Amino acid sequence: AKVSIIGAGNVGRTLSQRLIERNLADVCLLDIVEGLPQGIALDLTEAQGLQSHHCEIMGTNDYADTKDSDIVVITAGVARKPGMSRDDLLKINAKIVTEATQKSLHYSPDAIYLVVTNPLDVMTYLVWKTSGLPHERVMGMAGVLDSARLETFIAFELGVSIHDVQGMVLGGHGDLMLPIPRYCTVSGIPITELLSPETIDKLIQRTRDGGAEIVRLLKTGSAYYAPASSACYMIESILFNQSRLLTAAAYVQGEYGLNDLFLGVPCRLGSNGIEQILEIKLTTEEREILQKSAKAVRSSINMALS
Ligand code: NAI
Repeated sequence: AKVSIIGAGNVGRTLSQRLIERNLADVCLLDIVEGLPQGIALDLTEAQGLQSHHCEIMGTNDYADTKDSDIVVITAGVARKPGMSRDDLLKINAKIVTEATQKSLHYSPDAIYLVVTNPLDVMTYLVWKTSGLPHERVMGMAGVLDSARLETFIAFELGVSIHDVQGMVLGGHGDLMLPIPRYCTVSGIPITELLSPETIDKLIQRTRDGGAEIVRLLKTGSAYYAPASSACYMIESILFNQSRLLTAAAYVQGEYGLNDLFLGVPCRLGSNGIEQILEIKLTTEEREILQKSAKAVRSSINMALS
């Protein structure tokens, strides 16, 4: 399999490493900066014998090299700096992502497109709109990461193995994300049975601020290890048709009362992309939060398109 990654920054290069070292796919890493993807690819190739994997990586500035990719991952853009909101990035990244989509599509018209660039839900919509692809072949990564963060904080709080924790976070990527505690479990037990409402609220707040917490600690740049793992997890489900049930930013057409946008919903992810959106029962309050997310995403889309 071949995965092309547009943007050789922190997320793009870390994802490249994860994919090749786990023998999941050959990677074509593309960036606008000359020498950068080539240098990263050479460095990773020099590690290949030591890591004993058999996947290849090439670095390039030329979209022709991305030809016939099975999956194109878009991570190109500007990352958040301390104090910068995801929406500040909107205009800059809209232009970058639109261009990356047009150029990738020319060489890989049949690929599945996975968007990582923020603001996530808006960029995913732009990729879909620009590409004209069937909506099931375009998706955004956010829910897997937000869920992983929540799972981490639940595991910390209870002192249990992270491997026994399942988190569920829907909605937009940002302040309006929607963690659903009664669908978060530890070995099948809802966390609502294990933790007080106050503690759960605290963990949810930390999850909401999860990206900002890393930005604050790193001082330069934003999170990339867990984001790269989250994208890798989705790619694996697509390449091996695993039908994992996870949260992806997917195109909604009436599900949850939402229309014509991309938002984090529970999806079955396989070789055709988003194979199913599952509609789980939500409370009135939760549906309202989704509507609010949708409204914010919609107005950002309009701003990006204006
Ligand atoms: P970064 O700044 O390290 O890398 C971005 C790369 O994009 C740079 O190498 C830059 O040269 C390249 N680039 C810029 N314009 C380009 C163009 N026109 N064509 C090709 N490449 C271009 O940023 P990082 O940390 O890798 O993050 C990438 C994006 O992913 C950001 O927008 C960030 O906010 C987002 N992100 C999203 C997450 C999510 O949950 N959806 C999680 C983490 C990051």
